[in-house]
Amino acid sequence: MERQNAIPGHITEEQFNQMLISPESFGAKPESLSEQLFIERSLTENRFWLRIMKEHALFLGEGFNRKDTQHIQAADRFYHYFEQHERKSYQLANNVEVVRRFNEESIELVHGFRNFKRNLLILIINCKISGFNFPLLVDHIAREAEYFMRTLKKFNKGILEPIQDAIINENVFWLRIMMEHSRFIASLLDQSERNLVNVSRKFGDDFETLLNQARDVESMLYHKQPTYPIIGKMNKDSENATTELQAFKKAGLELIKSCQIRNVINPLLADHVLREAGHFLYMIKVLEDRLNQKKISEQR
Ligand SMILES: [Fe+2]
Ligand SMILES: [Fe+2]
Repeated sequence: MERQNAIPGHITEEQFNQMLISPESFGAKPESLSEQLFIERSLTENRFWLRIMKEHALFLGEGFNRKDTQHIQAADRFYHYFEQHERKSYQLANNVEVVRRFNEESIELVHGFRNFKRNLLILIINCKISGFNFPLLVDHIAREAEYFMRTLKKFNKGILEPIQDAIINENVFWLRIMMEHSRFIASLLDQSERNLVNVSRKFGDDFETLLNQARDVESMLYHKQPTYPIIGKMNKDSENATTELQAFKKAGLELIKSCQIRNVINPLLADHVLREAGHFLYMIKVLEDRLNQKKISEQR
């Protein structure tokens, strides 16, 4: 067919077709991870998460019915595996191959622990085992294990997700974690601590709103053309809310340690959720720096 000439005021064939191209094809491509960054980021994540995994084993162990010696022993075994592996993470040579192998060992160990947690969850919600491990808490710590594995797998592939996708993924994961921490705190405080229970619940609702907003952004912009102002603002909103929650958790930890409030929170658990807020803030900072560098390099 002969090509039509453009009629003034009418859309051309080219203009029409332009809008039919897959928007995903305008998404940024993954970037490569430098060797130095690979080592640094791997060590940071391993040291942080191996301690967290070790503590999950401890918390699960404390939450079982005391007659359930099988699960208590299994949790103890994981505690020792993670303790040994965590110790090893401080003794590694500064070498890409050594770190890559260590990441693989972590993935294998965490994979087993993730399965253990997920199998437990099924037993708990089918009333096959009793105790005080809330289903949502078990799901929460299983998700943390899955996140840790995903992160190490990305490192071992040597790639960095495009900054927009990385910011979306991290926020969707972490905002849910922060929302749940707030609600776990609310349910482990004694209900006579009316003020603190209300404040924790309010944090839970605020993070739920941020999480839903982040999911909306994910739906609109994941794998799409870079839209930095929206992404930057989301990261900033998360930073502000998490800084506030971190201060609340820190104050709570002090009150628990000095026995000034009525609660059933293990001080180590209070410290654990405080460290996780700190790690989210660290991730936000890493992403913000990458985003700023990206903006500068694109202005040139
Ligand atoms: Fe955790
Ligand atoms: Fe957590």
